[in-house]
Amino acid sequence: MGAAGTLRVNVLEQCQLRCAYCLPGAVKPFTPNPARLRVDEYRRLAAAFGAHGLRKVRFTGGEPLLHPELEGVIAAFRAGLPQATLAVTTNGLLLPSRLEALARAGLDAATVHIDSLRPDRYRQSMGDGDLEVALQAVAMARARLARVKLNCVVQKGLNDDELWSFLALSRRLDVEVRFIELMNTGSATHYTRGAFVSGARMLALLAEREPIAPLRRRHEADPAALYRTGSGITFGVIASDTAPFCGACDRLRLTPDGRLRGCLYEAGGTSLRDALRGGATDAALEALVGATVHTKRSFHPASTPGLTPFSMSEAGG
Ligand code: 5AD
Ligand code: SF4
Repeated sequence: MGAAGTLRVNVLEQCQLRCAYCLPGAVKPFTPNPARLRVDEYRRLAAAFGAHGLRKVRFTGGEPLLHPELEGVIAAFRAGLPQATLAVTTNGLLLPSRLEALARAGLDAATVHIDSLRPDRYRQSMGDGDLEVALQAVAMARARLARVKLNCVVQKGLNDDELWSFLALSRRLDVEVRFIELMNTGSATHYTRGAFVSGARMLALLAEREPIAPLRRRHEADPAALYRTGSGITFGVIASDTAPFCGACDRLRLTPDGRLRGCLYEAGGTSLRDALRGGATDAALEALVGATVHTKRSFHPASTPGLTPFSMSEAGG
């Protein structure tokens, strides 16, 4: 791979919800506070990433808004990467009260994760939470940020009858929905197998009501394949299992304890935190980032056997 495009920064693994396929904390204990990167460390790393010209930085978790200093983390990246799009992937529940501060720190975009538009199912599938608050977060974010998306992990017998409700919401709030295939990360294998719905099946379900036409991906490295319904609603499908997109992937990932990885499925990584705490110069940090960019390869289970089970809350989606 020649250049990196997106960095996904997992700021912490904790989440107040408990989606059946994610189960934060079930596979591995959470990274203890002192082991996590501090805001001043993010500031130095952001400068090192800035030297590599990233297009976008996305803050994830777990639930990134549980991080008490997320505004500081975002401001650090805004300083190091003035031109990049800064985005957050969140369940939205804590967004209404912090949206303004996050936007002022430099946040441009948000993706809100909602798996059902029926309050009873929402609670059941996500383990807790108030759907009304999540929907309010989407509407407020739409009014304040440049770009807002909705993520829906499609699950058999749970929400596969709601795809058109999501598209209706997409039209009403003017936010793009992305339907996501369940990924088997090895941590909830039984659930994942039983609830799996392929991207092709999602399209077939949607096509029962209106014809669906494929569009070009917005960006080559974008995981979402884009489609448009007959009535003109654009949506995405992320089919990482049935149609892996590793070849075009330009993402890097930073774990809460500062390990930089080239792939979601990779277990180890290069510890930028150890380098920082060991007194590395800015040039040395830049070189470490560069080395990960140049050695980046896919560890996707389709091509690499021997998956170490993990939760998306550790890997940052
Ligand atoms: N498969 C697919 N998507 C997942 N997410 C978390 N775990 C999984 C999984 N096993 C999604 C969440 C969130 C994003 C960061 O990752 O829905 O939107
Ligand atoms: Fe929390 Fe997101 Fe995991 Fe659900 S998928 S438990 S909202 S981190």
